[in-house]
Amino acid sequence: MQTELESAVGEVLIDKEALSARIAELGAEISVDYAGRDLLLIGVLKGAVFFMADLMRKLTIPCEVDFMAISSYGASTDSSGVVRILKDLDINIEGRHVLVVEDIIDSGLTLSYLMRNLESREPATLEVCALLTKPDRREIEVPVRYVGFEIPNRFVIGYGLDFGERYRNLPYVAVLSDDALPEGL
Ligand code: IMP
Ligand code: MG
Repeated sequence: MQTELESAVGEVLIDKEALSARIAELGAEISVDYAGRDLLLIGVLKGAVFFMADLMRKLTIPCEVDFMAISSYGASTDSSGVVRILKDLDINIEGRHVLVVEDIIDSGLTLSYLMRNLESREPATLEVCALLTKPDRREIEVPVRYVGFEIPNRFVIGYGLDFGERYRNLPYVAVLSDDALPEGL
């Protein structure tokens, strides 16, 4: 018997073991690159929380975290690039070494806006670490220093990624099944 949760799941693109192995590699790489600097991770709510929590525990250097919540207007599976800050950072990032942690970069519009906004606050360095990227969908170039996985142009759910706020709790990344899509999408 399939559960209601599982019926939304199409092909599993990245399983639990692959996620954890790649995140350990990223953690080791970031720990080397930021050795001796005081690192601030900025998580973009809500999708990046899951990745952020696992990534942080693979870092062997001191670091701090803060979060931002942003929303883009537009259709449910498409980003418009018009971004609103719903929750701003608690701390001042001027002079800090900032690493933005994102769940997925699709068109790049959300991240591009966010980077311009953060850049204006004059951090010492500003880089991005994204778990997933869909290069085929990119509409605007954004430099991403660390990438977990490149994926094809499919709508994915799980490990923080939602469809209508659901399915973030799946322990893997899977394609959203056609059965879960409303008519006309
Ligand atoms: P962008 O502005 O088009 O790069 O969109 C980025 C945001 O859209 C991500 O932070 C996600 O919240 C959402 N998004 C893009 N693609 C997917 C997907 O395949 N599954 C779930 N959310 C997605
Ligand atoms: Mg989302």
